[in-house]
Amino acid sequence: MRMYDIIKKKRDGGELTTEEIKYFIGGVTDGSIPDYQTSALCMAIYFRGMTVRETCDLTFAVRDSGDRLDFSDIDGIRVDKHSTGGVGDKTSLVVAPIVASFGIKVAKMSGRGLGHTGGTVDKLEAIEGFKTTLSDEDFIKQVNDIGFAIVGQSKQFAPADKKLYALRDVTATVDSMPLIAASIMGKKLAADDDCIVLDVKTGSGSFMKSVEDSKALARLMVDIGKNAGKKTVALITNMDRPLGYAIGNSLEVIEAVETLNGHGPKDFTEVCLTLAAYMLSLAGKGSVENCKKLAEQAIADGSALETFKRMVKAQGGDVKLIENTENFKKAKYAYAVKSTVSGYICKVDTEAYGLASLALGAGRNTIEDVIDYSAGIMLRRKTGDYIKAGDELATLYANDKTKFTAAEKLLLSATLLQDEKPQDEPLVYCTVE
Ligand code: URA
Repeated sequence: MRMYDIIKKKRDGGELTTEEIKYFIGGVTDGSIPDYQTSALCMAIYFRGMTVRETCDLTFAVRDSGDRLDFSDIDGIRVDKHSTGGVGDKTSLVVAPIVASFGIKVAKMSGRGLGHTGGTVDKLEAIEGFKTTLSDEDFIKQVNDIGFAIVGQSKQFAPADKKLYALRDVTATVDSMPLIAASIMGKKLAADDDCIVLDVKTGSGSFMKSVEDSKALARLMVDIGKNAGKKTVALITNMDRPLGYAIGNSLEVIEAVETLNGHGPKDFTEVCLTLAAYMLSLAGKGSVENCKKLAEQAIADGSALETFKRMVKAQGGDVKLIENTENFKKAKYAYAVKSTVSGYICKVDTEAYGLASLALGAGRNTIEDVIDYSAGIMLRRKTGDYIKAGDELATLYANDKTKFTAAEKLLLSATLLQDEKPQDEPLVYCTVE
């Protein structure tokens, strides 16, 4: 087999065979295929697309390129949730303990933030002492004892994806539907879950800017999950605005704890309850409607918060921070961003909001950057709210005052005002089952 022929076939609109796809991913993994040929094939896939069969083959080859987890020692049904990435998206911190409080197991591998999107592992590391690496034995024991554990990806998961993503990132081939689906699901399927709920974000803060494209990506990922023998559902959720009011690591943990205490922002709480309801329902706890009631109950009776605290303690985190979030270390400086005009906020560029948080030190541009956990943004107004000239749009937090100027500029230019109140947009557009 020759890589040249595979590239030519896809360039001319052909359908690759399973063997050709395995040969390609094998060569990416062992380094025998040069970067220029890998990039050329990614570009051909970008323009020509792939059939569902080809995308499944690509996903399974990516999954099989590295370690796979064996969860057979975990008792009970295992459910995972995966978000395609957004701004202010701290849902895992709320959803996992809700689900685990009903005896359903959540053995979660999470990612770090990169660019404008945050990552669950970084958020958890904002809790002093919290360990995001556990041995296989400790991980499985904790999931059996407490119902959930969240760790980073320490193993060699889907190494082919790491190489492919790095090349896609510099060759303008990230936003290809089959490549995104194979990348996300290749990693997800390396874990050993029974059910997967996908949170496919749509709008200005996500990879997919339109609901139609998000639905198509969701359909593809659900088909891949089903082909792999997993019960899979996708929810298309709104990322045309940040989720909740907090953006930045410790600020988001505090907001998640407030939500577990029953005092979370309406939009964030609603998305968490819906995701938890689908996870519980897939795990056999009844209809989605009833499971949503169960999820509400787990917040109201404190069992979800208690489960979260047990997880934090088990992973070495300081539980006093969760018991009283005032104990979180604060940034040295705070700065109020004030609106220069009056009107209803009708539209925001959510990606720019994420970039503003990054500019304050809350994220990383490259994988080596060090995160400032206390940096970030607390929004005071969101889409649909009226704001008067001189009123506070957001409070910025940083340990370096010079970072405020760039972040303020980004926020103000990303916030569009108009005279009329805009129509409410759905938080959850639809589900793909
Ligand atoms: N997230 C991933 O893991 N991969 C992609 O290609 C896009 C988003």
